[in-house]
Amino acid sequence: MIAVYPGSFDPITNGHIDIINRAAKKFDKVVVAILNNKDKNYLFSSQERLDIINEIFKSYDNIEVDSFDGLLVDYAKYIGADVVIRGLRAMTDFEYEMQMSMFNKKLMPELETMFLVTGDEFSFLSSSLVKEVASYGGDIKSFVPKVVVNRLKDKF
Ligand code: COA
Repeated sequence: MIAVYPGSFDPITNGHIDIINRAAKKFDKVVVAILNNKDKNYLFSSQERLDIINEIFKSYDNIEVDSFDGLLVDYAKYIGADVVIRGLRAMTDFEYEMQMSMFNKKLMPELETMFLVTGDEFSFLSSSLVKEVASYGGDIKSFVPKVVVNRLKDKF
């Protein structure tokens, strides 16, 4: 079975990495799909996010990295994905995730969404908070991999 793990990953954090590693143990292939929404202002370009995530997972045979725009269901159909993986950090994520999964189900009934509960050590993490702390020179070493620490240093 092929799983797609979509997100902005601006930048990827240890919380995302935990979800990807766990999903890769359960599925034949996990495609990390980076959303490139033209209306959004990202800190890292689509190519930068692709390079960073490729660097992290380069030694994994069943993890692929790609970027997409448009609807997730169209992309899932295009790559032949059976399942969408999403991580749930807290109850606050639940409503939004529920709404998205229901919408996707209406658009593509055969595509299932499966939720993995984020490890509790990552439940407070978010990409925006990492960026904020990094922008003030705070220590983000325990929240993101080294490649992201270095890339954030270059940005700020
Ligand atoms: N650990 C740490 N942080 C996590 C996390 C985890 N396991 N899971 C999510 N997050 C954080 C992210 O860091 C991000 O933080 P931020 O808001 O501070 O940047 C936030 O949760 C949400 O990010 P993400 O998981 O990347 O989702 P998203 O909301 O950016 O993107 C898509 C969601 C890509 C799935 C959705 O927008 C989509 O499918 N878009 C395509 C268009 C489409 O089909 N629309 C119709 C959908 S019904």
